Amino acid sequence: MSHLKRSLHCGHVAEKKIGSELILAGWVHRWRDHGGIIFIDLRDNSGIMQLVFDPAVVPDAHSLRAESVIAAKGILENRTPETINKDLPTGKFELKVTSFEVLNKAKALPFQLDEAEKVAEDIKLTYRYLDLRSEEKQKTLKLRSDLCFEMRSFLHLHEFCEIETPILSKSTPEGARDYLVPSRAYPGNCYALPQSPQTYKQILMASGVEKYYQIARCFRDEDLRANRQPEFTQLDMEMSFIDERDVQDLCEDMFKKIWDKFARRPLKDKTFPRLTYAEAFSRFGSDKPDIRFDLEINNIDKLFEQTKLTFLKATIERGGKIGALCLKDKNLSRSELEGWVSRAMHDFGAKGLLYVRFDESGKPNSPVAKFLPDNFLEQAQKVVPGITASDTLFIVAGDYKSSWEVLGKLRVELAQKHELVDESKDAFLWITDFPLVEWDREDKRWYAMHHPFTSTVEGSDWNKPETLIARAYDLVCNGEELGGGSIRIHQREIQQKMFDLLGINKDSAKEKFGFLLEAQELGFPPHGGVAFGLDRLAMILSDANSIRDVIAFPKTQNFSCLMTQAPSTVGTDQLRELGLKCTKAATPPKN
Ligand code: AMO
Repeated sequence: MSHLKRSLHCGHVAEKKIGSELILAGWVHRWRDHGGIIFIDLRDNSGIMQLVFDPAVVPDAHSLRAESVIAAKGILENRTPETINKDLPTGKFELKVTSFEVLNKAKALPFQLDEAEKVAEDIKLTYRYLDLRSEEKQKTLKLRSDLCFEMRSFLHLHEFCEIETPILSKSTPEGARDYLVPSRAYPGNCYALPQSPQTYKQILMASGVEKYYQIARCFRDEDLRANRQPEFTQLDMEMSFIDERDVQDLCEDMFKKIWDKFARRPLKDKTFPRLTYAEAFSRFGSDKPDIRFDLEINNIDKLFEQTKLTFLKATIERGGKIGALCLKDKNLSRSELEGWVSRAMHDFGAKGLLYVRFDESGKPNSPVAKFLPDNFLEQAQKVVPGITASDTLFIVAGDYKSSWEVLGKLRVELAQKHELVDESKDAFLWITDFPLVEWDREDKRWYAMHHPFTSTVEGSDWNKPETLIARAYDLVCNGEELGGGSIRIHQREIQQKMFDLLGINKDSAKEKFGFLLEAQELGFPPHGGVAFGLDRLAMILSDANSIRDVIAFPKTQNFSCLMTQAPSTVGTDQLRELGLKCTKAATPPKN
């Protein structure tokens, strides 16, 4: 039991306390010995204060080491003018220590906290509590907490009700693999951890709750691409008797408030632009375009209708498309151009990438230059707005979807490399009118582009699935998908049409979502909602590089927690109780 009880936080020390006796407590941040006098920067959650240990008064201070936890009693004094530290809010003061207590002695550290930037992420994740002690990480944790508080108060003012939904639940329809929890009471049966609260929030609408929200934990066992975690957090919302505009307008208001309060940069547009999926894809090759730079994709089929380049001609004749990006005035080297060809082919899945660099006189320079007409630039000007001499065209030909996807990826990387992104503003936009379903060539069946409860516009022709437009919308910020939602199906007959289209038979639908289907026949109001990735939002607001930086205890790309070493094997007794037998075992990587 400590005798010294903290009387003030380091960061709260102020002029009016000069001459008072204070007890400060925290971590030894820095340690210096000036001719026998020990100076310690003491750190707590509020800031840093300098402590001075005179060996004549307090011997033993020289044995204190970085990150030990101490409590120190002393008298607050002004520093001499020449020793004032202008970089610290408390830099005018120091505590002349009269006694101190070591509350916890730190051993040699696995890494020095002020060198954390150079330390491998694995080590930092193993000792996450050390990494989280940094000022930057503390700020991020606080930002995330303030952000949740802001969202809660906004939604509370708009009469939303915060409701928790079960974690031990049943398979939800987001399309990833489920995490399963075996049931001891019913061996052979499992709960599924929710991929999102989707079905529950719809049921809440059937329950008469008209405005629901939850800061909800979601679990998806899927490949961890960038900015994905197996467990992550959503701000999840649902409302009854609304349309897509109501949801979008409300969210827009909320994000404007959030940006006013927390953002490092202002918003690019006062009103968030809206693009249909078809337009976004044709201009940017993506359903989450970064609109902080132009560099749009141009359809240049016309340029090659009479071409001697047989592979391009054949592409057009096959019904394929030729798309191009025009990079202005960068005078790219041959090796850079070849580098882009290899990146497109090896990493973006392109069959090829053609470049045409116009020199200052407008002459095309390209591996296929001899097949291009002399007036190629003039012809290009008819289909590529603004193209002039000294510009470079990057061309991809093939089927529309895959070629445009390649150009979409290339667009982002070219813009990053050539610093075209306007980093001074944040750019939101809504993507709307997604196709309801996508055809999977391998499985030879339709899949829901969002989830099977997404409705389609009234009067749609279910016999032409490719024409069905979903009443779905995504919110994109700086090229990152921040959230998505839709107006849901609330009528059993429409739901049946959707299941029929997706090839989900009656038994399977009943087994998976029977409760929801029943609710659709027992007074289900029209409703819709949205969910935003809280981790991605915190990442954008704090300018972090990865969502791992804004999650207190994230998993690695290999799905493991290096600090607790989860997942881990379980004892045979536990397995037996659950009616399970282990047939395959692997050890997750340890640090
Ligand atoms: P969706 O699956 O689009 O929609 O998810 C909504 C948002 O959640 C975030 N997100 C993730 N963040 C981190 N790691 C992940 N693995 C991950 N997966 C998704 C993204 C995404 O935009 N129930 C629907 C919403 C609705 O229709 O209301 C849903 O979950 O930011």
